[in-house]
Amino acid sequence: MDLTTCRIGIIGSGNMGKAIIKGLQSTGQKPTITAWDALDKNQKLLKEELGVSVPQNNRELVTDSDIIILAVKPQVIDPVMTEIATALTETKLLISIAAGVPCRRLENALSTPVPTVRVMPNTPALINRGISAIAAGTHAGAQHLETTRNIFTCLGETALVPESAMDMVTAVSGSGPAYVFLVIEALLDAAVGLGLARDLARKLIIETVLGSTELLKESGKHPMELKDMVTSPGGTTIAGLAELEKNGLRHAFNEALKSACRRSEELGR
Ligand SMILES: NC(=O)c1ccc[n+]([C@@H]2O[C@H](COP(=O)([O-])OP(=O)(O)OC[C@H]3O[C@@H](n4cnc5c(N)ncnc54)[C@H](OP(=O)(O)O)[C@@H]3O)[C@@H](O)[C@H]2O)c1
Repeated sequence: MDLTTCRIGIIGSGNMGKAIIKGLQSTGQKPTITAWDALDKNQKLLKEELGVSVPQNNRELVTDSDIIILAVKPQVIDPVMTEIATALTETKLLISIAAGVPCRRLENALSTPVPTVRVMPNTPALINRGISAIAAGTHAGAQHLETTRNIFTCLGETALVPESAMDMVTAVSGSGPAYVFLVIEALLDAAVGLGLARDLARKLIIETVLGSTELLKESGKHPMELKDMVTSPGGTTIAGLAELEKNGLRHAFNEALKSACRRSEELGR
């Protein structure tokens, strides 16, 4: 589908719904966007700040859209599907970003073979620096995936994955920003504990994280190789690294990802 001429309807305009709308509005393609949200505050914001038209209800939104994006919490997906099911047809494309909800669950709520795609974005999408993993449901073809990729490119990078990988992807990049923020918070407190001013510590840590990830990306090198570059024999870095290993950093991340992946599987049942 050509994004310049198609109509995109977004159900749920919280953090992610708003990020998608802003991302789409920032592209040159300018699709027609409608959105609906249960919260009055968000409906007002949609109309007054984002200039998006707000229909009477989700059903009307689906009837008037070519592409429908479900951006509500996983717990609300079933009632929303009941509300919109009969308005969905085979010519439309249904995209869901709900964590843990498999395409099969959406397809089972429908009596026609509607093309369905599942996407897992992450919060850096709020500043167009996200990564969205994209997986096809039973009736979605290459063109549906391409259309979905075009939409989510406006929020950052994209990666096509088999749906069987989605629980793992959710644990890694969906939840990932929270792990990174926790690590940064821990570093920040530790730096203040050493005696550095909080503002200075914040600047040092943010630039260190940004610079290190850019170096990793641009060099294409293995993280171990870049780590070795900083680690001189008998020096400061090896002393710090030894403490992190002794305190089980690797084990903690292994267990964290396994636990997040299991939770994603549970949410999908
Ligand atoms: N945030 C993330 O990092 C992230 C990452 C990847 C995927 N996701 C997925 O993205 C989805 C949205 O997450 P979010 O963080 O944007 O949630 P959110 O901020 O809570 O936004 C969801 C919005 O949908 C509204 N809503 C509830 N029922 C509705 C209905 N029947 N019709 C229309 N709108 C309805 C909610 O209103 P009320 O508050 O009144 O319920 C809320 O304003 C979730 O499924 C989540 O799993 C989120």
